[in-house]
Amino acid sequence: MQATDSAGHGTQSTTEATRPAADGATTGAAAGDQFDFMVVSNRLPVDRCSSDETGCEDGWRRSPGGLVTALAPMMTKTDGAWVGWHGAPDETVKPFSHGGIDLIPVQLSTEDIELFYEGFSNATLWPLYHDVIAPPEFHRTWWDSYRKVNRRFADAVIRHAAEGATVWVQDYQLQLVPKLLREARPDLKIGFFNHIPFPPPEIFAQLPWRRAIIDGLLGADLVGFQRSSDAGNFMRSARRFLGASVKQQQVHVRGADGETTHIARAQAFPISIDVKQISELAKKPEVIERAQQIRRDLGNPKTILLGVDRLDYTKGIRHRLKAYEELLQDAKVTVEDATLIQVASPSRERVEQYRLLREEVEGTVGHINGTFDTMESTAVRYLHHSYPIEEMVSLYLAADVMLVTALRDGMNLVAKEYVTARTNNDGALVLSEFAGAADQLKQALLMNPHDIDGLKDTIMRAVNMQPAEASRRMRAMRKQILDHDVDLWSSDFLKALAEKVVRDDS
Ligand code: F6P
Repeated sequence: MQATDSAGHGTQSTTEATRPAADGATTGAAAGDQFDFMVVSNRLPVDRCSSDETGCEDGWRRSPGGLVTALAPMMTKTDGAWVGWHGAPDETVKPFSHGGIDLIPVQLSTEDIELFYEGFSNATLWPLYHDVIAPPEFHRTWWDSYRKVNRRFADAVIRHAAEGATVWVQDYQLQLVPKLLREARPDLKIGFFNHIPFPPPEIFAQLPWRRAIIDGLLGADLVGFQRSSDAGNFMRSARRFLGASVKQQQVHVRGADGETTHIARAQAFPISIDVKQISELAKKPEVIERAQQIRRDLGNPKTILLGVDRLDYTKGIRHRLKAYEELLQDAKVTVEDATLIQVASPSRERVEQYRLLREEVEGTVGHINGTFDTMESTAVRYLHHSYPIEEMVSLYLAADVMLVTALRDGMNLVAKEYVTARTNNDGALVLSEFAGAADQLKQALLMNPHDIDGLKDTIMRAVNMQPAEASRRMRAMRKQILDHDVDLWSSDFLKALAEKVVRDDS
């Protein structure tokens, strides 16, 4: 961090105005402080919470989702700042430090949350980018709010970025930020990473504001994606909707005067996890003991199956439950022998599709348990909570079979966490071919979750897998992840961003 005075760009943010640094946090960046490295994402790594909520410590709780899981380790080791929303509507919070990271909060009003976050981000873009599993809604008021809020995030960066700084913008909520930064601060190195899939142009075509989104992303020097198919989809859309001339996944971007401002590149950088943290936890005696206690508490079933997801319709929880119910009906599994633990962490609860999903999932779990439970044994242990990472690792250690049945998923870090936690090379991973992780975890039992019979067969293969086969598969998957942890992901991206690019147009 560079401490400067009035040299900062723009005026002082409203976010720096009223609230003192929150409990449990130390005062962070001052209004004029500038940084050589900045990450900007919709959410900060911590959310405001009240002390009676699970996982809440000193007024803060870890934010949900894979983005934070991936970026937090890098940011704790870096001398940079993280710009994002702090999770409470209408609350202004001064910059502060938490867990060793300088955080610069951006305020969202109740209306911004409704229109920008729940609306455009999560009821337009989210379903559109996930194969239209749910129908996307298109509203001009949501789009106006998306533009306004993207401008606010960009302004916070512009104020705090040192001359020539590197800025790494994250995810679909902030796709207009790269271009806004480029226009105001051509001195910056601008990277963007999309944590979720990027749809094929045939689906992206539905978006009334498709040109503006592509234009916004092309403001970056480097646009990163989880899979090479996502990078290809993006460049095909750039060609189709903006008439961009794309060569080797690169585009010459021109300013208003027709002069080339920079070359934008698209490339895949599959995200990963903090391997060291999970491996160390998996060896701790208290974490191992907790895993054994979980099994005892469930009545010592022969097989524990586990699903861990944000309660989101992209995760295929309904398909998983359907397959499991049929296996119980067919007596392929019994409640005496097997229990499915389903952790469904609360997510986007005011968005209609998420409300409907929760009702449906909870109705189905109630129906399955009502039909198959005995006094002693349960079919599905359903937990609508988020848990600290220690508890998650105990669950991974307790689970003989991990079920990742996403209908579409950018990556799915839960799959990678499970494999990393299995330090004895046992356990089986059932993995959807529609999750980005399937590109790296090729020794998982890959399946199509839409094919319920195929899913049932795959679950049974996992339940009955011989130790030698399980060990062979797990070893190979663990090697892949141990060789490609999240530090490598971020350093690969930042190295590629720093490279000087020359496009050969001959
Ligand atoms: O990784 C996808 C993502 O949408 C992140 O951008 C986000 O932080 C996380 O999932 C959780 O979602 P939300 O912030 O909407 O709770």
